[in-house]
Amino acid sequence: MSSILDVATIKRDFPIFNEEMRGGKRLVFLDSAATSQKPIQVLDAERNFYTTSNAAVHRGSYYLAERASEVFENSRQKVADFLGVAPEEIVFTKSATESLNLLAVSFERGTGSLAIGPGDEIVVSELEHHANLLPWQQLAKRTGATLKWFEMEQDGSLDLSAMDRVITSKCKIVAITHQSNVLGSVPDLAPIIAATHAVGALFVLDACQSVPHQPIDVRALGADFMVFSGHKALGPTGVGVLWGRAEILNAMEPFLYGGSMIETVTMTGATWAPAPKKFEAGVPNMAQVVGLGAALDYLSNVGMANIHLWELELTQYALDGLKAIEGVRVVGPQGIIDRGGVISFTIAGLHPHDVGQVMDQYGVAVRTGHHCAWPLIRKLGLTGTTRASFYLYNDFSDVDIFLESVVGARDYFGKR
Ligand code: ALA
Repeated sequence: MSSILDVATIKRDFPIFNEEMRGGKRLVFLDSAATSQKPIQVLDAERNFYTTSNAAVHRGSYYLAERASEVFENSRQKVADFLGVAPEEIVFTKSATESLNLLAVSFERGTGSLAIGPGDEIVVSELEHHANLLPWQQLAKRTGATLKWFEMEQDGSLDLSAMDRVITSKCKIVAITHQSNVLGSVPDLAPIIAATHAVGALFVLDACQSVPHQPIDVRALGADFMVFSGHKALGPTGVGVLWGRAEILNAMEPFLYGGSMIETVTMTGATWAPAPKKFEAGVPNMAQVVGLGAALDYLSNVGMANIHLWELELTQYALDGLKAIEGVRVVGPQGIIDRGGVISFTIAGLHPHDVGQVMDQYGVAVRTGHHCAWPLIRKLGLTGTTRASFYLYNDFSDVDIFLESVVGARDYFGKR
């Protein structure tokens, strides 16, 4: 077997793997697409912030506040380096969901090319997580704009044959995922981004499922905005990232109003600080931001290319195993071309929630249901799937137990 990663050593960094699951089973964690586990380095970074540097950033003039601001801004630099962009282009939010809502609200308040109004068009796809659908759907409803979308094929790719009908001269924003959180499929974004820019619209990349798992060069992709969440990338909950091109961020309207995002304030008006401060009202989630910096250090030390290759090996192994189990159907892409380390499947005649419950008895943690992507599931003619997702702390023995638990679920109900 390959050993691109030293998973045994990696696993020792994650205290959660010392926990016993029901019946004394070890944890086989295959739900990293929902949230990742945290290494001790991230937990230490958060704790260290509180024990050595805790003060409100960007406010105090005393030594401790300066130290807090410095470690906070160091994290911003780490995120920027990780993505290959400038730190002024990194906005910290509380989640990727908040980053997308920030964009939608800002466009509602915007002017000129950064405004959405009646007659404008917003484009998404049937692959989207609710977090990259509802903010745009509701923005369209509020403003009188029209929401359009690329349809999904059964293999989890997008139907690009309707490109000219979907992206027209009325289009202002195109917001699409880098990788489906349900199927792991990776849509062909290059022609969509080219068409977006050809009509003068802006492209928003939902990179929640890609940034934690593979090397990303945001500028090479050609996106105008990109979002991801810290907690799926070994970081804490409560921190999300919005990247945007500096000139666009600086021309946009704020999302939340309050402390630290202003230039001047009178009783009747205010002007805004430059990005990213304009979008960071209030005392931010400081320890979480610092934790995210430690998480990205950890990922960089392991190597994003290695992580990606390793996940694809596990995925291929799991796909081969699943396809050999009678009654199991892999949904979406059938191979590892244009996909990440996420697999959705069904077992004939069984509800995914029942499947997940039996798998839990083997210590296997998977997600079941519609995965916050209901239109995608409906398009597949399903009510839900069981989903396994891999990360750097998984190995082949995890996949073996996973496959055993799938057979166990099938037989448990089959024998009843
Ligand atoms: N977006 C996360 C998932 O796909 C929660 O499970």
